[in-house]
Amino acid sequence: MCGIVGAVAQRDVAEILVEGLRRLEYRGYDSAGVAIINNRELSRVRRVGKVSELADALQSQPHAGGTGIAHTRWATHGEPNEVNAHPHRSEDIAVVHNGIIENYESLREMLRGKGYEFVSDTDTEVIAHLVLDKLKATGSLLQAVQEARKEMTGAYGMAVIDQNQPEHLVVARSGSPLVIGLGIGENFVASDQMALLPVTRKFMFLEEGDVAEITRTDVSIFDLNDKPVERTASESDLKHDAGDKGEYRHFMMKEIHEQPEALAATLEGRIVNGEIVTEAFGANSNDILKKVEAIQIVACGTSYNSAMASRYWFEEIAGIPCQVEIASEFRYRKSVVLPNSLLITLSQSGETADTLAALRMAKDLGFMSTLTICNVPGSSLVRESDLAYMMRAGVEIGVASTKAFTVQLAGLMLLILSIAKHRGVDPALIQEITQGLTELPKQIEKALEMEEAIKVLAEDFADKHHTLFLGRGSQYPIAMEGALKLKEISYIHAEAYAAGELKHGPLALIDDDMPVIVVAPNNDLLEKLKSNMEEVRARGGQLYVFADKNAGFESAEGVKVIELDHINNYLAPVLYTIPMQLLSYYVAIIKGTDVDQPRNLAKAVTVE
Ligand code: G6P
Repeated sequence: MCGIVGAVAQRDVAEILVEGLRRLEYRGYDSAGVAIINNRELSRVRRVGKVSELADALQSQPHAGGTGIAHTRWATHGEPNEVNAHPHRSEDIAVVHNGIIENYESLREMLRGKGYEFVSDTDTEVIAHLVLDKLKATGSLLQAVQEARKEMTGAYGMAVIDQNQPEHLVVARSGSPLVIGLGIGENFVASDQMALLPVTRKFMFLEEGDVAEITRTDVSIFDLNDKPVERTASESDLKHDAGDKGEYRHFMMKEIHEQPEALAATLEGRIVNGEIVTEAFGANSNDILKKVEAIQIVACGTSYNSAMASRYWFEEIAGIPCQVEIASEFRYRKSVVLPNSLLITLSQSGETADTLAALRMAKDLGFMSTLTICNVPGSSLVRESDLAYMMRAGVEIGVASTKAFTVQLAGLMLLILSIAKHRGVDPALIQEITQGLTELPKQIEKALEMEEAIKVLAEDFADKHHTLFLGRGSQYPIAMEGALKLKEISYIHAEAYAAGELKHGPLALIDDDMPVIVVAPNNDLLEKLKSNMEEVRARGGQLYVFADKNAGFESAEGVKVIELDHINNYLAPVLYTIPMQLLSYYVAIIKGTDVDQPRNLAKAVTVE
């Protein structure tokens, strides 16, 4: 959710902090702030709105100083105003925080009793006072954070500085990611390595419960029990310009266009000489995949939609039972786990709080093993799962997920084919789909050529308040994803229905003001889908049909047809996602919404 950046350097760090925040803005964007120590004096600048507001303020009033922390906020406690913006102060110290302190009310009462005054509505201010309280007793910032941490419950990542000890900053991780960036004679911290790519490529990921003291030349890390620990440093292979829009107006459009490349990257080395390399899921994956008899997938948002699509494939291709559930539901209900079940988490970020909580329950629930399909190396889901498939989609910054979705689908298909192989499924079928996978990047590239036609189509939607998306079979989740994209970035209410369910309710909504989008590849459900479309047409609904060019659709009064090339039936969901993404993008452009950072949403939801 929120983004944190910190630095201890000899040079002035304001610019580095602001650039880091810009790169983290996708995480949250209702206010931003920095606190910098110069000559043992802490100064703070905070602004409501985007990081650019803060950058302008610092431009007109530069702040020198080599130790600082910065934050971009996604409000949880207290409205997005300047008083609630981070960093929060308590006398000589300043704190930035990502996450939620669940017991903040009782801590606030306790601290009020000791004479601390609260000026904001945030839970973070509690941390500032609590750390100061401990600092007064111990004199050490590190110890103060370690002591304070023991009294706090909830999920957080935080960074603290003290104007009397400018040579170091102290950070703590519990539930929200933090990475330390190692420089030469300077060190940094951030909630995502992306923020620090302009200054270093060497990173050290903190583990759950870690507290670290960072100086210009040293990093000392302590675990949950305050014991010194070593964490390994690694070089990032992220491109330096990964956080730039390049020639595109928005990250979302850049990411839509990166899909052919991202799909090729995810398949590279995983299909060799036409054969799936089953080790793509981890060194001992074969032993586990051989034994698997049931699949349970948990995920949120777009990742949930790709899980839903894969359910059709798991059962149809590999003949293995597969259940899919939203992580926030799964984690709070009692579920029955089938023997030899594999728990799969799907996540772009690898940090989604509900998905992570579901994974952490897995062992107790009796799952045989856990696998994550994830885009961020070193993320919590990757570190805590038995097996991991790295998506290699490249950094995704647009809040509305695009390339992560199609790449997840490809990864899921590789997994399904690997399991199918172990289960003795007809090699010809496996061969056919494997071949189809290798052709996907080219087919997606071709589908992107629809852009101009879809731009025109988008005009029809800009003044609409509602839209219905229909699909059947594995295209139903693609309709779900289409509806999610449209509502996320254009704020048009959009709902997806399995087309066969139309007459059980949504048909009542159809009139000439309700556009209906139909995902219609040429498969054995086509005739049934056509009947569903007639039901819409007969009631004056306007149909927009994304159809296989051989499916026999023609544009007519009340029906606009957009043709797609024929594709292997199993892989059609990947292809049909493309026009849905383009449509929502262009509708949002016409409506003038903030495409990359839609209101009220965040890219990585690290709180419940
Ligand atoms: C947020 C994002 C979505 C994303 C979802 C799950 O809601 O805005 O784009 O699909 O979280 O995120 P994950 O990183 O777990 O895939």
